[in-house]
Amino acid sequence: MKATAITHSNIALIKYWGKYNPKLSLPMNGSISMTLDNLKTVTTVEFSDDFKEDKIEINDKAVDKKSEERIVAHLDRIRKLAKIKSKAKMASKNNFPTATGLASSASGFSALTIAACNAVGLNLDGKQLSIISRQGSGSACRSIFGGFVEWLPAKRSEDSYAVQIVDENYFDLRDVIAIVSSAEKKVSSAAGMMETVKTSPIYKTRLKIVKNSLKGMKRAILGKSFTKLGKMAEFDCLLMHACMLTTRPPLIYWSPATIDIIHAIEGWRKDGLEAYYTIDAGPNVHILALSESVREIEKRLKDISGVIDIIQNKPGGGAKTTGEHLF
Ligand code: PMV
Repeated sequence: MKATAITHSNIALIKYWGKYNPKLSLPMNGSISMTLDNLKTVTTVEFSDDFKEDKIEINDKAVDKKSEERIVAHLDRIRKLAKIKSKAKMASKNNFPTATGLASSASGFSALTIAACNAVGLNLDGKQLSIISRQGSGSACRSIFGGFVEWLPAKRSEDSYAVQIVDENYFDLRDVIAIVSSAEKKVSSAAGMMETVKTSPIYKTRLKIVKNSLKGMKRAILGKSFTKLGKMAEFDCLLMHACMLTTRPPLIYWSPATIDIIHAIEGWRKDGLEAYYTIDAGPNVHILALSESVREIEKRLKDISGVIDIIQNKPGGGAKTTGEHLF
């Protein structure tokens, strides 16, 4: 009763922010992401009646209480589905430094879902795995698939899952991540989005706009129109951050270096270096570009003080299982 899964994180081009049903992680709006080939998680799960309690390790260390509770709750979901009571051992490793402040919940909960479901012998398809992953962390439902992925919003759990738009070989978009902080965010996405839905006076306006953005983004991906895709991703990022900024109390996830990079990218575009930015609930900046610009972008980022690391990504593949277990 042991299995191992490998999944990749993803970056949302049209963002998810706000839950219609917090318990089931049903989103207020649809979202579209690109799976990232260079942000990888490997997770092994084993269930056994010999284990007295669940044992969880990430990057060879025990996890804090809050993360442990969230992971155990996810294991409980899978135990319930499999109708078993056995305790589990879970070990997980990220190939990216955990101190980068990069979200590992998308790759983490999708890998946990697949490893645990396989370990208990549940034979589920991508849609079912996406629905289970979603309940661990919303964005994890998109990491089941490779390439460009859409998460469908719905009122019932069985109708809200991710689907692939095109695979990782269709459009060679790049995401160069500028890491500017290693600090953990003060307000988690889960807590922050609840407050935004309750208090931001512009939240409903974003929901109306996002409906069209999703259609436009799908067209841009299918048409491989980088300029349209970049402009739309940037606008949606700013619209989500506008909702965060107008939450009471305000959610300000940016740091001075975040703003410096935004201004730099605007300058690059004036010089003919085409790049666009998108930012999640944190200060790191994801720079969207075509492959021919990546080297120059990396060179220019190195000159910006405050950039502590740079991670390049191509569109990544979907979730996989492997016989190479972590323990
Ligand atoms: O999946 P969560 O609960 O970590 O929330 C993700 C929220 C954003 O990263 C800001 C947007 C997104 O769609 O990934």
